Amino acid sequence: MRTRSPGSQVDRLAKKLFIKNYGCQMNIYDSARMADVLKPLDYYLTNTAEEADMVILNTCHIREKASEKLFSELGRLRQAKVRREVKGSRMILAVAGCVAQAEGAEIFRRAPYVDLVFGPQTYHRLPEMIARATRVGGGVLDTDFPVESKFDHLPKTSTPAQVSAYLSIQEGCDKFCTFCVVPYTRGAEFSRPVPAILEEARRLVDGGAREITLLGQNVNAYHSNHPAGTGTTTLAGLIHALAGIDGLLRIRYMTSHPRDMDKDLLTLHGTEPKLMPFLHLPVQSGSDSVLQRMNRGHRANTYREIVTRLRHHRPDIAISSDFIVGFPGETEADFESTLVLVRDVGFAQAFSFKYSQRPGTPAATMGNQVSEAEKDERLEVLQALLTSESRAWNTRMLGQRLQVLFESPGRYPGQLVGRSPYLQAVHVKNPVSAIGDIAEVEIIALHANSLAGREIMPSSAQALDKGDAYLECM
Ligand code: 5AD
Ligand code: SF4
Repeated sequence: MRTRSPGSQVDRLAKKLFIKNYGCQMNIYDSARMADVLKPLDYYLTNTAEEADMVILNTCHIREKASEKLFSELGRLRQAKVRREVKGSRMILAVAGCVAQAEGAEIFRRAPYVDLVFGPQTYHRLPEMIARATRVGGGVLDTDFPVESKFDHLPKTSTPAQVSAYLSIQEGCDKFCTFCVVPYTRGAEFSRPVPAILEEARRLVDGGAREITLLGQNVNAYHSNHPAGTGTTTLAGLIHALAGIDGLLRIRYMTSHPRDMDKDLLTLHGTEPKLMPFLHLPVQSGSDSVLQRMNRGHRANTYREIVTRLRHHRPDIAISSDFIVGFPGETEADFESTLVLVRDVGFAQAFSFKYSQRPGTPAATMGNQVSEAEKDERLEVLQALLTSESRAWNTRMLGQRLQVLFESPGRYPGQLVGRSPYLQAVHVKNPVSAIGDIAEVEIIALHANSLAGREIMPSSAQALDKGDAYLECM
């Protein structure tokens, strides 16, 4: 067995890996898998870039300034790389993710000291890329959409799982919303086969996960054809199969598209207790003409109907969404329609963004681009409304008893932080329950980004307490 005691032979061979993650949950999942790919090469994660033998920036391209941020970060890392070279050691500098996919060779042109540039679909080839960069020198670029799936070539997850773990089940997108780079950076829609997902989920649960969030750019478009041609498993079928795993207590999924909220999935929210009552369902706009120019393929009322049906199956479900303000041609009346939709739905939480022109996307060259000043103004109005809705939603929790899954220690000694079924962070002082347990918690206070609660003593613990008292009396 390999040990890593200070000064041992293995310790000298062990290399330090620093990964900086930008953007979405899919990138968080990918970063963890890159660490898995590099483990057999003796790379171990560190928290400081300066001391790392390899630094990976796992980038996001969804909104503006991604490349500017990247090049200024690279500038800082270049100095650290030079400092290491002066000391006789090396730093392999890599750019991964969607900016790497979109900018490719341009990154080498502007930052020739970068060693590797690779997209989201090729990181299973990292060992070869590192060997090439080390042997031959010069930059290695791999932004293919390979015929083989990276998932078939990744090592089995080996790190202990988080209590709440991510599992990527679907990637890419065929929807081509006119504002969005994802279909170009992540490629065509692809669903992983059911057995591979079940196997990874079981491993996560064996490693300590109690909650799994199924990830995909368009996760509810998930469909896996049975090899024998006997049918297709949709997301509802997959969740149903996952719910059969002992020890897995909670299931979530994100991000969904309104067009793919099929009947089975809507119904499952009322019948599957492990499926949490929270849905992130981006609508982007409440105006039909904007939705049409965005190529969303649904109307504002379609969204309202989905929410009504969801609430029919699961009345307490928390609805979350994404919004874009200032899409090309958005008028004051269009924006008003968005505010009306927000008031109609009542969102538990939401993310809102100013439209950002992404090169290569159809909306980037549309006429009637909205001025920055108007975008700022609309964003402020929308965010004020969304904040008030989310505050109202959280206020309703006061005095309620929620099932909280504890995930990590809190900021103060004895405190634990967990999540409610509605994905709210809840912190509890000195609970009897431990990380990985679900406890009943009474909500006693609201904070800006979290709730505070006190644990309701489990009845078994109360019985034990009485028993102890009885023994003492004897
Ligand atoms: N401009 C602004 N927001 C965008 N998003 C995606 N592309 C853009 C863009 N060009 C937002 C959408 C999406 C979320 C992940 O990012 O709201 O749902
Ligand atoms: Fe982008 Fe989502 Fe539209 Fe796909 S569905 S193009 S990921 S916004």
